[in-house]
Amino acid sequence: MAYAVKNIELDLFPEDIKNEQNYSATFADNMSLPIHKWYRYTAGFSAVWANQLIRQEKENGRTRIIDPFAGSGTVLLESEFEGVESIGIEAHPYIYRIAKTKLKWNYSADKFKEGALSLLGNARAKNITKKEYPKLISSCYPLETIQKLEALKHAWLETDHVEEIKDFNWFLITSILRSTSPVGTAQWQYIQPNKTKANVLDPFIAFETKVNVMYIDMKRLQIQSRILHVADSQIFNEDARNIQSIPDGWGDLVITSPPYANNYDYADATRLEMTFWGDITGWADLQENVRINLIRACTQHVSKLGSEIDAILSNEKLSSIHSELIKVYSTLKEERLKHGGKKIIIL
Ligand SMILES: C[S@@+](CC[C@H](N)C(=O)[O-])C[C@H]1O[C@@H](n2cnc3c(N)ncnc32)[C@H](O)[C@@H]1O
Repeated sequence: MAYAVKNIELDLFPEDIKNEQNYSATFADNMSLPIHKWYRYTAGFSAVWANQLIRQEKENGRTRIIDPFAGSGTVLLESEFEGVESIGIEAHPYIYRIAKTKLKWNYSADKFKEGALSLLGNARAKNITKKEYPKLISSCYPLETIQKLEALKHAWLETDHVEEIKDFNWFLITSILRSTSPVGTAQWQYIQPNKTKANVLDPFIAFETKVNVMYIDMKRLQIQSRILHVADSQIFNEDARNIQSIPDGWGDLVITSPPYANNYDYADATRLEMTFWGDITGWADLQENVRINLIRACTQHVSKLGSEIDAILSNEKLSSIHSELIKVYSTLKEERLKHGGKKIIIL
């Protein structure tokens, strides 16, 4: 990770930030912070860290921040809270939607709650008897749970709400899919149907609990924002390699965390949620609708490239790291052959 100001790359962890007691590079601590905690995005970084950087650079007169790999919106939210304008780009359509909804925290908390509870009422009144579901879904939930989740989904599809409420309700349902499943979730959010977890919530209770968590955050922050100056941010669903939505010369600071070649498959991490909503039905959809837009970060991205690989590896843009790249590529290629098929995928 690095951040750049007018083409100067700065030390990622200046000493004063490194020494802060509450410093953390991960998303884990965000789970106790308002708005950030609404959705656990394991690929996210620390909001505290982002906030410290934004404050420090605000002192230096930098007040227009760009995050070209915005993920769940950590930088954008902290920019808003610090009264600094920001624009984010996120290519994963589903993660973009998550971030975009979090950025609506300033929407009327009362209308949000009313809309959410009306959807819950409609879902509770439904009698879902359907028994057949995609394999991934039926492997992750007992039938009674699926039917309640399905009732929420049907209520969402049928209820005619304004766009903001519709987005919040989509977000609410999406954000409870993990906590209502008894199957395990590995470090990087892959599903592990053979592992079970202890605390599993009933979908209707999980939904209502989440409504209250979000309502309290919105109320509190909205009261604070009347006193403090908060700024607006925007996010666009685009490829950071070909940005159209940010005017030339707009920003004066980039804070970002791009996909690294760490074998994290951003597309696969949301497979459960996208299958639940019917956005994908299988591997091919994931590849064509999601993965194709993302920077290659894992071996899944390159497995089908075949002879194209040679052209990519010999691209002159990579010349300075070519020898190291070839070494890593060859090691990974060998490893891949040894471990092929061991990752738990049940689609
Ligand atoms: C390390 S994560 C950033 C997480 C973010 N800092 C946060 O706190 O949530 C990298 C993000 O880049 C996104 N991404 C991958 N390829 C992209 C591309 N070509 N353009 C824009 N975003 C992309 C991924 O979907 C992922 O959300």
